[in-house]
Amino acid sequence: MLVKYLLPTLAAVGSVAAQSGVCTTTATINSQAEATQLASCRSIKGSVVIAPGAGPDIDISGPSEITGDLTIINNGGIGSLTANDLTKIGGTFLARNVTKLGTLAFPKLGSVQSLNWQSLNNLDTLKIALTQAVNVTISDTFLRSLDGIDLTSVASLDINNNKRLTSFVSSLANLSNTLTINANGLELAVALDKLIWIANMQISNVTSFSVSALKVVNSSARFDSNYFETFSAPNLTQTTTNDISFVGNAKLKNITLPRLTSIGGALLIANNTALGKVNGFPQLANINGAVKMRGNFTTVEFPSLDVVKGAFDISSTANIDDTCKNFEKQAPTTQGGNNDIQGKYSCTSDNADANSDTSSTTGGSGSGSNSGSGNGNGSDTNKNSAARLTGTTAALVLAALVAFQAL
Ligand SMILES: *[C@@H]1O[C@H](CO)[C@@H](O)[C@H](O)[C@H]1NC(C)=O
Ligand SMILES: *[C@@H]1O[C@H](CO)[C@@H](O)[C@H](O)[C@H]1NC(C)=O
Ligand SMILES: *[C@@H]1O[C@H](CO)[C@@H](O)[C@H](O)[C@H]1NC(C)=O
Ligand SMILES: *[C@@H]1O[C@H](CO)[C@@H](O)[C@H](O)[C@H]1NC(C)=O
Ligand SMILES: *[C@@H]1O[C@H](CO)[C@@H](O)[C@H](O)[C@H]1NC(C)=O
Ligand SMILES: *[C@@H]1O[C@H](CO)[C@@H](O)[C@H](O)[C@H]1NC(C)=O
Ligand SMILES: *[C@@H]1O[C@H](CO)[C@@H](O)[C@H](O)[C@H]1NC(C)=O
Ligand SMILES: *[C@@H]1O[C@H](CO)[C@@H](O)[C@H](O)[C@H]1NC(C)=O
Ligand SMILES: *[C@@H]1O[C@H](CO)[C@@H](O)[C@H](O)[C@H]1NC(C)=O
Ligand SMILES: *[C@@H]1O[C@H](CO)[C@@H](O)[C@H](O)[C@H]1NC(C)=O
Repeated sequence: MLVKYLLPTLAAVGSVAAQSGVCTTTATINSQAEATQLASCRSIKGSVVIAPGAGPDIDISGPSEITGDLTIINNGGIGSLTANDLTKIGGTFLARNVTKLGTLAFPKLGSVQSLNWQSLNNLDTLKIALTQAVNVTISDTFLRSLDGIDLTSVASLDINNNKRLTSFVSSLANLSNTLTINANGLELAVALDKLIWIANMQISNVTSFSVSALKVVNSSARFDSNYFETFSAPNLTQTTTNDISFVGNAKLKNITLPRLTSIGGALLIANNTALGKVNGFPQLANINGAVKMRGNFTTVEFPSLDVVKGAFDISSTANIDDTCKNFEKQAPTTQGGNNDIQGKYSCTSDNADANSDTSSTTGGSGSGSNSGSGNGNGSDTNKNSAARLTGTTAALVLAALVAFQAL
């Protein structure tokens, strides 16, 4: 147990409540009788812990606010937790390893600082009206839908391993840290059509992903192992720093980013074996990092390409000689081009192993394969360098893995 608060004399709580409606207490609830003693508190100044042994049904209706945390951890017996009047939790709503919990009924709960739900394997009924939260994690539940969670602005949102979740539609307008969606129901359709800007996103295992209004990715966007056939971000103009990547999206046939003009980091497109043509980047002019592409494509077109500060490294299982001829003109001067591409230029056809390289490193032999975010420099020669696209992607992947293993 993380928390070991003791309930001070509950009778005293009740009497305080009777006078002011504000109970200053940190309560551990072991039974419904103890929960009932809080019913006359309008506001609880403090935190509430539902003990591991509490159950089978706990109702803490009465209070409209808990200024601290509401915590329930390692409770294997409780079936339902109800708080009909609660509108706000000032701290964290933490529920972890509560394996029989089927119902969370918080019909008026609109605001929490953080919501952190993990390993609620039976949770299939959710009543909530959440519109304000800073950080939200919903992991390993039995929920079919997240209706009732409708945030317009959030710092981080992590939805993973909810195996029955097949739809996530949200009016999210902006997200300032990271959106993670991973390993939910195999048919998960995600629609974030009000989203205007987002710092980072890591999207995996989704069947569709719609961001029709998205204008700016402030940091990075990564799409791994999804099931969509097309990807389009019709209004996306730039990633201000860091990468865009599509890796291992086996059905992906078409990437369309008609307004994208600049990428603040690198562009990685690898092992999307159904992607025949990369021609959905008509306005892409500036890439501050490297370009790395591996796949079965026959054509790559970046008709507006003006500057690539890092390496330009593409290789296909197919014959892409025409594509190579075209980009060769933009290679570094040391490789006979006009230096639009400042890192090492490499372009190869008929590489049977093209799809086995999904790493974000470019180069191999030769010069200037560095990339990074903006510090690409192709003029150093004869260094067998293999530079990372950027550290951010790796760090995010690592963070996602750690989060996943923490389950
Ligand atoms: C989950 O809670 C149960 C009690 O319900 C406990 O026995 C078990 O050790 C907990 N698991 C973890 C990973 O903490
Ligand atoms: C939200 O999550 C971020 C990143 O994990 C953390 O830095 C921040 O302190 C959290 N904010 C709150 C209010 O929990
Ligand atoms: C982010 O969203 C919040 C809530 O909708 C809004 O108040 C704020 O203006 C938005 N900020 C930006 C920069 O879009
Ligand atoms: C992201 O970019 C938008 C649009 O340029 C900007 O309004 C917002 O403040 C940026 N957010 C962060 C977290 O940098
Ligand atoms: C889900 O995506 C992850 C990458 O984030 C991948 O490793 C995993 O194989 C995918 N799961 C399925 C069932 O496709
Ligand atoms: C896309 O951007 C244009 C121009 O800024 C705007 O008029 C349009 O409403 C945006 N589309 C969506 C779906 O937000
Ligand atoms: C790719 O998708 C866009 C719309 O998202 C469509 O206009 C275009 O025709 C598609 N291209 C191919 C080759 O399927
Ligand atoms: C991609 O290329 C590899 C190697 O040539 C081949 O085995 C695979 O069948 C191709 N996949 C598709 C979808 O064309
Ligand atoms: C490429 O993607 C396929 C699924 O389409 C996966 O089985 C394979 O492991 C991936 N290869 C690499 C090197 O990631
Ligand atoms: C690139 O490297 C050369 C030679 O090492 C150096 O003179 C130049 O200043 C570097 N340019 C940048 C942008 O780092």
